Amino acid sequence: MASEKQNAAEQPIRNILIFDTTLRDGEQSPGASMNLEEKLKVAQALVDLKVDIIEAGFPIASPGDFEAVSEISKLVKGSTVCGLARCVDKDIDAAWESLKNADDPRIHVFLATSAIHRNFKLRMTQEEIIEHAVAGVKRAKGYCSNIEFSPEDACRTEIDFLCKVVEAAIDAGATTVNIPDTVGYTTPNEMVKRIQELFNRVPNIDKAVVSTHCHNDLGMAVANSLAAVMAGAGQIEVAVNGLGERAGNCPLEEVVMAMRTRRDFFHVDTRIVSQRLVPTSRIVSKVTGLVVPRNKAIVGRNAFAHESGVHQDGVLKERSTYEIMSPESVGFVKNDLVLGKHSGRAALGERIKSLGFELTKEQLDAAFDEFKRLADLKKDIFDADIVAIVDRQSAAAKRLTGAAADWKYVSYELNCGSQGKPSCKAILSQNGFEKTAVSSEGDGPVHAMCWAVQQIVGLRFTLEEYKVEAVTGGFDAQGEVAVRVKDVDTNVDYRGRATSTDVLEATLMALVDAVNRIQHSHEKDSK
Ligand code: KIV
Ligand code: ZN
Repeated sequence: MASEKQNAAEQPIRNILIFDTTLRDGEQSPGASMNLEEKLKVAQALVDLKVDIIEAGFPIASPGDFEAVSEISKLVKGSTVCGLARCVDKDIDAAWESLKNADDPRIHVFLATSAIHRNFKLRMTQEEIIEHAVAGVKRAKGYCSNIEFSPEDACRTEIDFLCKVVEAAIDAGATTVNIPDTVGYTTPNEMVKRIQELFNRVPNIDKAVVSTHCHNDLGMAVANSLAAVMAGAGQIEVAVNGLGERAGNCPLEEVVMAMRTRRDFFHVDTRIVSQRLVPTSRIVSKVTGLVVPRNKAIVGRNAFAHESGVHQDGVLKERSTYEIMSPESVGFVKNDLVLGKHSGRAALGERIKSLGFELTKEQLDAAFDEFKRLADLKKDIFDADIVAIVDRQSAAAKRLTGAAADWKYVSYELNCGSQGKPSCKAILSQNGFEKTAVSSEGDGPVHAMCWAVQQIVGLRFTLEEYKVEAVTGGFDAQGEVAVRVKDVDTNVDYRGRATSTDVLEATLMALVDAVNRIQHSHEKDSK
């Protein structure tokens, strides 16, 4: 046993490349669309996290995607920037046009290979698929040396044909071959077998990095990615908070911490700065409006909370009794009582910094004023309260620097009870002018608020999702409200989020946040 352990410890540690697709596949999560400013913020967070490759978007998909990839290419230093393209000339040309200013660009071309996709979606023979794949890789190679090829739905592709496609793509110049489990169907054993077969049967496989891209439809994305790594893959594709199409992609934070915590088992690691995992998760959650579940592994608020007396006793005596990694190692700062009414601006600034945020002097001044107001309302101020203040400050800063036509919450009055219809008076402002609406529609206070907001802003939406959560414990906790609304005109979903000690005020602010997102997207479409 001892010598087994010794052998394991002596095995060299292999570095696994982390390819992040939060800004491309992640943005395809319903309601998770981001504007340019938000994408740049996420891209910078990914650089700080030290991901190896940032997939910044699908440039041909829309002018917004093209612009985002171009701007991210100019911004990013220290990570490869990648753009997605079908094996179609105009896609590849657009991808290069948007990537050309990147320090280290990569073009990612893809084409489906499984029989289902060939017969029903593409209506192409196996020979035609190989022809198109080779032509796509070659065209991309004409622009840059770093080329990734993905046979879409690879895990449901006949293995003989997959080997042929992969060999042809590498021959044509692909430097990474990515094996996607596009529909989240495969199992860890199947994944090991598939990757091993590629290593054993594709003669030029040593000329490319083998990668995987696992969707989470059956909840196996992390297990399948780790299986691919164990079979020799050198890159895995992931998204922060597991964002992505349908059930999402392999969550970056989970797979990275699995490899780091169990280095003894996997004999691999990454260059990820794990202390940035929680701040990055928060940034992504904030800009997409997608709330991280409390019990989410690694970055959920409860991921390190010990509830039972037995566990608490154990942790107090020796942390490792119930903790396999420390909360600090993933970027949690102790949720102790941090500041009080008499704390100064410098102490608040330090705390904000240690929580992973950077504010300008003006933002810190505004945050300090808000902190003082909150300290009058609330006895104990926790880290989560400070994060909520910082979130509000960055939303306020966005209102100042963003479109002047953004709506701003001013005040509300609400009458409701078990008898009679609720009524809501809401006041919002735009370009410095206030507008009031009184609504006695709806069957509850939130419904009445939605009506009032629609009257003021002149947009029609339905409320698809409404969530309230206390940011901390206690009667005086701040409430965080997350909404998802559907723009009736376009049928597109938008999210909004806000916090306040008054949950109804937070509701109105979250609705305003969502309305501003609808408005931005209408403005973009009309350009
Ligand atoms: O899921 C998938 O197959 C993809 C490819 C474009 C890599 O996202
Ligand atoms: Zn995908």
